[in-house]
Amino acid sequence: MPRKLRDDIGSSKLFQDYDRWPKHFQEALEEEFQLNFIPRAERLVFAGMGGSAVAGDIIADWLSEDQPARIEVVKDYHLPLHMTRKSLVITISCSGNTEETVSVLLEALKRQIPCVAVSSGGLLEQVSQKRRVPFIKVKALSSPRSSLPFMLIPAARIALESLGKNAKERELVECLDIMRDVGNQTSTRASTRLNPAAMLAKMTKNCQPIIYTPLTLKAAAIRFKNSLNENAKVHSSVEMLPELCHNELEAWINNNRTWLPILLRSKKEPPEVNQRFKAVQSIMRNNGAKPFEAWAKGSTRLSKIMSLLYLLDFSTLYLAKLKGLNPLPTPNIDALKKQLGSNLRYLERYAPR
Ligand code: PA5
Repeated sequence: MPRKLRDDIGSSKLFQDYDRWPKHFQEALEEEFQLNFIPRAERLVFAGMGGSAVAGDIIADWLSEDQPARIEVVKDYHLPLHMTRKSLVITISCSGNTEETVSVLLEALKRQIPCVAVSSGGLLEQVSQKRRVPFIKVKALSSPRSSLPFMLIPAARIALESLGKNAKERELVECLDIMRDVGNQTSTRASTRLNPAAMLAKMTKNCQPIIYTPLTLKAAAIRFKNSLNENAKVHSSVEMLPELCHNELEAWINNNRTWLPILLRSKKEPPEVNQRFKAVQSIMRNNGAKPFEAWAKGSTRLSKIMSLLYLLDFSTLYLAKLKGLNPLPTPNIDALKKQLGSNLRYLERYAPR
């Protein structure tokens, strides 16, 4: 890696955040939360946007292993109509000032659906104090997306408590070992020559990445797409197995060779996933594409998702640097929030008087 690039990386707060993810994950695990206020629920809804919503995506994919259809993620202003008072709404916003998330919290209060809020402060905290909503204050790092460990762990604990699944907490601890393992290979301290995240970034530099995932790993895929957008400022899309075999696959006939298919794989895939990946890769190759496989680590679904997510997020940081971009600022997103903020005045309307 050129010296200048190494210096830039060293000085970027975002790289520092990601380098320390295993430490942050451990810190969040060691944090004591008051969870005795969490009600038992039949259904959970996570409400959040972007980097904060991903905590909900991960937990939904992880816990749906045993409890399909009981957990949903809402990335919108409104709650689904079928939510009842036997549901729990977990609102997550790193800043606490995201319109959509604050709107869902107020809607839950209006419909008298039990709710909880997780944020580093902002309006979510103010509304929670005013309306006696159980609130967990979390640490914010240089960006919401890099603050994921601090949002994921409390949100996961709330979900486990509410669904009576505390035994699964040990899977969070197992995940920490996996994060350390991935960090040793992918962080800025790792050998550049063998760093799989840096290698993937190099391959992605002159291509358009498309992500292929089985449903079990879709949280990692969605997050990878978001990080390609926010950190590396590139377009990307997520295609899911088995559905892609009925539509997207056909587009390879017209392959213009600028696409890089990135396949999210794990050991012990169900046979139908394994066979489909093999068949899909063979068709891609026959059409001139060179698919790249990213392999998950660990034995639980959570570890698999998190190991991929950490590796792939790091690759988007290296990609940004290879493109000469600072991955931290998100000027378009900020401009849009500002414009909507002054046009819709949602946040002013939400502010508790
Ligand atoms: O990662 C980011 O910076 C964004 O995706 C934000 O998470 C998103 O805009 C929502 O903001 P917040 O996480 O503060 O609710």
